[in-house]
Amino acid sequence: MFGLGNSATTMSDQSIKTENAIKARVISKPQPIRILVANAKGGCGKTTLATNLASYFAGLQHKTCLIDFDPQGSSNQWLAARHTELPSIHGVAAFKKNSGQVTRTWQLRNLPPETSRVIIDTPSGLGGLLLNDLIREADIILVPVTPSPIDIRATTTFIKDVLLSSSFRSRPKHIAALANRVRKNTLVYTKLELFLNSLKIPFVATLRDTQYYVRASEYGLGIHDLENTQTSDELEWQPLIEWLDNRIGKIREQSPAPHTD
Ligand SMILES: Nc1ncnc2c1ncn2[C@@H]1O[C@H](COP(=O)(O)OP(=O)(O)OP(=O)(O)O)[C@@H](O)[C@H]1O
Ligand SMILES: [Mg+2]
Repeated sequence: MFGLGNSATTMSDQSIKTENAIKARVISKPQPIRILVANAKGGCGKTTLATNLASYFAGLQHKTCLIDFDPQGSSNQWLAARHTELPSIHGVAAFKKNSGQVTRTWQLRNLPPETSRVIIDTPSGLGGLLLNDLIREADIILVPVTPSPIDIRATTTFIKDVLLSSSFRSRPKHIAALANRVRKNTLVYTKLELFLNSLKIPFVATLRDTQYYVRASEYGLGIHDLENTQTSDELEWQPLIEWLDNRIGKIREQSPAPHTD
């Protein structure tokens, strides 16, 4: 009796252990960090930022996914031009109409195993349901803005749309703006900075206007892939990288699952 009882206890202990081990393996699967690059204003540098971020993370050996929601398919074309010997990036042409019933959520979640970084490029004019869906699926939102009064006004409206969206209000995200294609002074940003300060949204980086971005993009490269990138350009990325590292750390802390990076 005792022996039987013992072995029954041992067996159930073992099955509990096995079940826990399976659960632990499922739970410990690292969740990818999803970075949404967005601004309703066209031409402010969304694709440039998205592709440069993707190549930056891929260069750090992160399994990186670049999802293109813009029907122009610029990120997708950038990826097609990328040399196979460069750190690889998995592309998703999410803008293509699917014949099946594939939802946006499915497109954003059905990624290659072990994906650790997801960069989402978006079209100009982004708003409404698509914006709401993309915000819901994102961990971090980056808003590039070029230094013209028209662009700055449009960006202010866009940021209000983001903050007032139901998905942001139900689960606020880490959000930051960055100045792109800056030539001389940044005085033009003063109004935007005041607006961002009032909302406690940081202005995380200032990227200068340089042909490096244009030339690199022709070959599916980011400036981090270039050997002769100016040190000053690398330095300009530093505050953005530090801010992202800090936010990713916070996201990992808040996440109930253990993560591997
Ligand atoms: N810092 C920069 N210096 C020089 N050129 C830049 C810089 N950032 C972007 N560009 C160029 O500006 C143009 C617009 O940039 P990009 O395509 O990234 O903007 P976008 O917001 O994705 O545009 P769209 O709304 O059409 O998708 C591109 O030709 C790009 O190469
Ligand atoms: Mg674009």
